[in-house]
Parts: sequence; C-alpha cells; structure tokens
Amino acid sequence: MHETGKIVTVGVSGASGAIYAQTLVRMLDRDARVRKVFLVASEPGLRLIASELGIVAQDPRTLPKLLTGTHAEKFEYLPNKDIGAAIASGSYPVDGMVVIPCSAGTLASIACGLGDDLVARAADVCLKERRPLVLCIRETPLNRVHLENMLRAQAAGAIIMPAMPAFYYGPKTIDDLVAQYVCRVLALLGLPQQEQYRWRGEKDR
Ligand SMILES: Cc1cc2nc3c(=O)[nH]c(=O)nc-3n(C[C@H](O)[C@H](O)[C@H](O)COP(=O)(O)O)c2cc1C
Repeated sequence: MHETGKIVTVGVSGASGAIYAQTLVRMLDRDARVRKVFLVASEPGLRLIASELGIVAQDPRTLPKLLTGTHAEKFEYLPNKDIGAAIASGSYPVDGMVVIPCSAGTLASIACGLGDDLVARAADVCLKERRPLVLCIRETPLNRVHLENMLRAQAAGAIIMPAMPAFYYGPKTIDDLVAQYVCRVLALLGLPQQEQYRWRGEKDR
C-alpha cells in the first residue's frame, strides 16, 4: 500500500538559535501530515544545541527524543559524515528540507555545491531535484561573501529565510517569537500550522 504523509529533512548547523531547531522538530513531531523526519546536525550544530539548550546527547541518535521530549518515533538521526544516507540521493523521495539555523559556513557550502557533508549534500539534492529548500540564515552583520552566497543559493532555488522574528503581532515571550518564525518556515514547506498568526489588516492595529 502507498504510504501517505510528507518526508522532511532537518539540518542543524552551528549558528546561534538552536531553539528554532527544537521548536521546529516539536511541531513536526506532532504534525500528522508528516510521516518521517530525518535530522542531521553538524558538529558545531551539536555544540550549539548543548550550549544554548543544555541538551547533550551521548548517543546522537537519541537527539530527536531529547529535543522533542517524546518517543519521536517518526524521526531518524543521521550522522553528518554519512554521505551515503538515503537523503544523499535524489532517488529517495524527500518532500523538502530546512536548515535551521543555517550558519554562514553551511550557506557557503550549499551555495558552492560542495556536498562535503550530509547537510550540504542533502541540500544540494533538494536543489537539483527542484524540491523546497529553506535556509534559516543566522548571522549579523552580513559581509559581501554572505550576501553573494545567499544570492547564489536563492538563484539555484533555495528560499532564504533569515532568522529574523517579527513583532507586529504582539509577541509576549521568546517562545512566541520563535514559534511564529517557525510557523512561517513550515508554511514554506507546505505545512501551515493552526497557530500561525495571520494579519487581518488594520483591524489588528
Ligand atoms: C557559540 C557559537 C556561536 C556561533 N554563532 C554563529 C552564528 O550565529 N552564525 C554563523 O554563521 N556562525 C556562527 N558560529 C560559527 C560556526 O559555528 C562555525 O563557522 C562553524 O564552522 C560552522 O560549521 P557548520 O556550518 O558545519 O555547522 C558560532 C560558533 C559558536 C561556537
């Protein structure tokens, strides 16, 4: 029988904002439209998860459980050096990928098509197969190299979604800010969330 539900890849690189990744995987975990999530983190990504969230996975395969606080059954953690994983091939039917947060280094690797680790290779596969790839860039200020790499990645099909939370809906907490940003990311992957704030024009002022 044909299985239904989306297959999503989540890459986590070593930029500040591990809470964005945690919030995103929690939303994917509870989203019945998603049947499989591959999680890949770079070494610096794991370091930022440890320093910003206090989550240290002795065995990285347990990371999805630690991030979601659930059994995380639909998740599979893949080592970043495993460039032979299923998601490294365009023949495997991933529906989309997000790199969250996306460091300037990982952006450069994707923009240049290096494919030298699994995050970069899986992203490259999404671009060549014309599948959605959302890059949640987190760096500031931006130098010319960053800007040019964003242009290159965007021209190749990536969606540049800087980790810049909005304030027009009156967020009260950091969790509000992060959740609304992550809702926008998921909407770009075709997974709009119930809790996403929707501006209704002047009535909201
Ligand atoms: C505490 C800490 C915070 C960092 N924050 C950022 C950041 O916000 N943006 C960024 O591009 N790099 C940041 N870096 C640098 C990257 O982690 C570094 O360039 C790394 O090589 C990126 O590797 P990756 O893209 O494979 O994860 C940070 C590093 C550390 C240790």
